[in-house]
Amino acid sequence: MSAADQIFSMLKESSQSGAPLYLQLRRSIEEAVNRGLIGPGDALPSERDIASKADISRVTVRKAVQDLVKGGILVQRHGSGTFVAPRMERVEQSLSRLTSFTEDMARRGMNVRSVWLDRGLYAPSPEEMMVLGLSSTELVARVARLRIANDTPLAIERAALSASVLPDPEAIGSSLYAALETTGNRPVRAVQRISATNLGDADARLLEVPPGVAGLQIERISYLASGKVIEFTRSVYRGDAYDFVAELRLTGPGEELRP
Ligand code: GLP
Repeated sequence: MSAADQIFSMLKESSQSGAPLYLQLRRSIEEAVNRGLIGPGDALPSERDIASKADISRVTVRKAVQDLVKGGILVQRHGSGTFVAPRMERVEQSLSRLTSFTEDMARRGMNVRSVWLDRGLYAPSPEEMMVLGLSSTELVARVARLRIANDTPLAIERAALSASVLPDPEAIGSSLYAALETTGNRPVRAVQRISATNLGDADARLLEVPPGVAGLQIERISYLASGKVIEFTRSVYRGDAYDFVAELRLTGPGEELRP
């Protein structure tokens, strides 16, 4: 069955629902993608073909397709048409280990690279002064990178550290934690806060997803064994790429939670 036929047969199934036509068509295309009847990279039939086959107006088809492009289900390539978006292989990430992006990806056999968005020494913001314990005369080292695994951009990470631990942000190689390790400043503990976000235009463009799609905002404050804060990082991860996994244990009354 052709892609147009698959969508059309889904549409016939939903035509009893009484929902507006564009919504029925949108759900039919989504359903055909979810059931694997049309797969990642497959071309969608032209607007005209869908309209004539389903006997609906091209305006209705366009509205349904635009919604699916916005939702990241379809992608439009200028001049060549509309396609089912490539499916992300989700990365499962434990929430109990303090590892670096480079280590996480290497463990999965993925190639890591970064695009530098910013690195340099700056006067600290009030928030950086508070979190990192800096005075207004000290400098903060800022390191912002787009993190890419197997050619897919996964996250934007913006780290701030005291310039006394990272005097030359230009000198970091591919891994911040490896650089900190060489000076005995690799963190041993961190507190991480994860919240939902809708990606803004600039971040969405870097992560190659439509603006407004779901993402994860992650804030990590890392500590040395001495208790000193070493890193304050804000990251934005693609929502379709990550599953954060935490192990939960039942503790009895008065029982300590073992690490
Ligand atoms: C993780 C953390 C960041 C940390 C980074 C270091 O992704 N979320 O807070 O800065 O790892 O990674 P790398 O050593 O690869 O630069």
